[in-house]
Amino acid sequence: MTYDFTTVYNRHNMDSISQDVQDDEFKGAEQDRRIPLWVADMGFATAPAVTQHIEKRMKHPIYGYYLPSDEYYDAITKWHEQSYGWSGPTRETTGYENGVLGGVASALRLLAAPGSPILLHSPTYNGFIHVLEGMGYRMVLSPLKPDSQGTPRMDLNNMERKIREENIRVVLFCSPHNPSGRVWTRDELNEAMKLFEKYDLTVISDEIWSDLTLYGNRHIPTASVSEDASQRTIAFYAPTKTFNIAGMIGSYSVVLNPKLRKALTELEAKCHYNNMNVLSMHALTGAYSDEGRAWMEELKKVLEFNIDSMCNFFSSIEGVRVFKPEGTYILSPDFRNWCASKGISLSELAKKGIETGVMWRDGKYYNMPDGIRLCLSQPSSIILQAIERLRPLFSV
Ligand SMILES: Cc1ncc(COP(=O)(O)O)c(C=O)c1O
Repeated sequence: MTYDFTTVYNRHNMDSISQDVQDDEFKGAEQDRRIPLWVADMGFATAPAVTQHIEKRMKHPIYGYYLPSDEYYDAITKWHEQSYGWSGPTRETTGYENGVLGGVASALRLLAAPGSPILLHSPTYNGFIHVLEGMGYRMVLSPLKPDSQGTPRMDLNNMERKIREENIRVVLFCSPHNPSGRVWTRDELNEAMKLFEKYDLTVISDEIWSDLTLYGNRHIPTASVSEDASQRTIAFYAPTKTFNIAGMIGSYSVVLNPKLRKALTELEAKCHYNNMNVLSMHALTGAYSDEGRAWMEELKKVLEFNIDSMCNFFSSIEGVRVFKPEGTYILSPDFRNWCASKGISLSELAKKGIETGVMWRDGKYYNMPDGIRLCLSQPSSIILQAIERLRPLFSV
């Protein structure tokens, strides 16, 4: 490997939520035994190209008001063309967003009054739950259903029924999907978008995981599947997940419908809380470079190894069901049968794991009553260590 994915960084006292989280939930994990698999950031240093671009900018010691550069927008356009063969994002169609969740919150404000029902899938990314609850929307959940191979699928009949019964106008869509790890196929996206067209819904499409597709799976931008989809979708992207720079903040929207774009831009401009940080702009141009892409390709190999290792471990335990994610680095094994056979509750199992130092996360935070979520984005030596810590829990 050209890049370093093996160094184990001590993030204690380095502003790291992942390591130093104080929530009661993780009190059982002693600081020097902590293996943080609970939050979606990574234990890897970011791509050297990111650091180099920031350092280069820092050689000029003035950080006054600034203009987002052509280089910034060009990097986004080129990244999407190379990654997805999609030329949707341009300087005109791309808007800065203060975090993907910030963008989602703005889009919700634009599209629906508080109290309105919003359709989304379960299991559900917990950030969506916080935003919807925090802003007073009503979540209408359509559960993903495993097919005969155990692959979670959208249940179109259920979605349609919910749309009709609840008079849904807005859907909050996650692609690739956190926490199931599904990378939706073109057919699946087409079917879903046809349904949204039939009922004239606006689609908020969170595509923050779009780069981290694994095992040869390809991300397809929601807005790219048809002309109609391009006009009803507000999409959000970011380099933050892929390049481990969530602390830099820096996401962006892509809205191809001029009316929707103008309305979103105006709403966001009014509050003056949606301005990019100059270093974050340079972080993005470093990330979305050829060197950044080379780093990302190596990262994916490491993530695949980690996922394979953890999946093999859980598959060997009778009563545990595990779907191997097609993207993201998130694994959500289902312990329903195992817990039933051992007479133990899921929260007891989650707690026991945490007491070994493995900070995994009870599925109750994700509308996933039988699962526990693990983010496998640490050096492989740490993932293997986590497996050895968990193993004794399952040999009872
Ligand atoms: C689906 C999804 N959307 C948004 C976010 C958070 O994005 P941001 O930090 O840009 O608000 C995450 C983080 O894990 C995520 O998984």
